[in-house]
Amino acid sequence: MPVITNIDDLKQIHRRRVPKMFYDYAESGSWTEQTFRENSSDFAQIRLKQRVAIDMTGRNLATTMIGQQVAMPVGLAPVGLTGMQCADGEIKAARAAEKFGVPFTLSTMSICSIEDVAENTEKPFWFQVYTLKDDDFMQRLFDRAKAANCSAAMITVDLQMLGQRHKDLRNGLSAPPKLTVRSVANMMTKVQWGLGMLGTKRRFFGNIVGHAKGVTDPSSLSAWTAEAFDQALDWDRIRVFRRMWDGPLIIKGIMDVRDAREALNVGADAIIVSNHGGRQLDGALSAIRALPEIVEAVGDRIEVHFDSGIRSGQDVLKALALGARGTYIGRAFTYGLGAMGEAGVTCALDLIRKELDTTMGLCGRRDVHDLDRDVLLIPKGFIGDWA
Ligand code: GLV
Repeated sequence: MPVITNIDDLKQIHRRRVPKMFYDYAESGSWTEQTFRENSSDFAQIRLKQRVAIDMTGRNLATTMIGQQVAMPVGLAPVGLTGMQCADGEIKAARAAEKFGVPFTLSTMSICSIEDVAENTEKPFWFQVYTLKDDDFMQRLFDRAKAANCSAAMITVDLQMLGQRHKDLRNGLSAPPKLTVRSVANMMTKVQWGLGMLGTKRRFFGNIVGHAKGVTDPSSLSAWTAEAFDQALDWDRIRVFRRMWDGPLIIKGIMDVRDAREALNVGADAIIVSNHGGRQLDGALSAIRALPEIVEAVGDRIEVHFDSGIRSGQDVLKALALGARGTYIGRAFTYGLGAMGEAGVTCALDLIRKELDTTMGLCGRRDVHDLDRDVLLIPKGFIGDWA
C-alpha cells in the first residue's frame, strides 16, 4: 500500500479501483468545468500569515454546527451514488463520520436508503432532499428521515434542473450500471469493486425506487428523474418544505446575498454557500469568493456554512477564516471511499484534521473559534470586485 500523504493520493487510488463511469461522475463539473476548477484554484490564491513564538499547545478543533457537537467543523456533504463508489458506500461513510465525530449527510439520490443507514449506524445523521414537485413524496421523505432519527434536514436549492456533465453523458451513467461492451470491459478490471457489488443487494436508488409514484423498479427511474425536479420553485414553496420538517434545517446552494436573505426569512438554521461543486451553473464564481459577502450580509443572524472546492485542511481553515461556521467535503471523502471503503473515509478525515490542526498552529492560532481574516493574505480584487 503506498504512503498516503494527501487527498490527491486517495483520488489516484480511487481512479484505479472504481469503474470509470463512477469515478468520472465524482470528478466532473458541468460544461467546460471552469467553476469546478476555480473552486479549488481560487483557494490556492489565498495565502497564510506565518506567525512564530506564540504558544501553540492545547489546540482545539471541536465546535458545534447548528448546535450539534462536532470534532471539527467539517461534515460529509450529500453525494449522489455514493453506494456505487463502493458497495454499501453510504453506510461505510456514515460509520466513518460517526466514529470521527462529524456529521454525515445522506443524499436522496443515494443507493442505501435512509432506513439502511439508520439500521447500520448508532448516531443520528443528516438527510438531504431536493426541491421536488411531488409534495406527497417530499413529506414522506421528511417523515422517513424523522422516523430514522435524523437530526437535521438539508434542502438543496440549486438543482431545479440539471447542469449538463459531459462525462456522464458519454459514459451513459446509470445505477445499476448499464451493461455495454465498454462498461463491462472496464468493470472487469475493477476486481475488488466488483466483488463488493456482487455481495450486496443495494445497487439502485434506495430512497426512490419503491417509494416515488410510478417508480416500482430501476428501469422507471430515468423517466422519474426527468420530471421530478421543480423548475417552478420559489421561496413560498421552500416555506412549504420548511413546514414539513420541524427539526433543524439547512439550505444548501446559496451564492447570492439576496438568496441568503430569503433563506434567512424562511427560517433556516444554516445556509451553505455552495455552487454544487461546480456541477450546476458553469461560469459561476468560485464558492470561496462568494463566501465573504454573504457572511457580511447575514452571518450575524444565521450560521453560514461552506462547501465546493475543499481538498485540504488548509482550505477548511481559509473558509473558516472568511467567516464560515462549518464546512463540508464531498469529493474529498468520495475519493477515500472509492479507494479504501470506510478506512478511506476515515483517512480523508484524518488528513484534513491534521492539516487543519498543523496550519492553525503555524498561523499562531490555538482554537478554531479564533480564526479570522487576520490569518489570511487575500489578493487585491479577490473579494467583491465584480460588477
Ligand atoms: C447531484 O446532486 C449531482 O450533483 O450529481
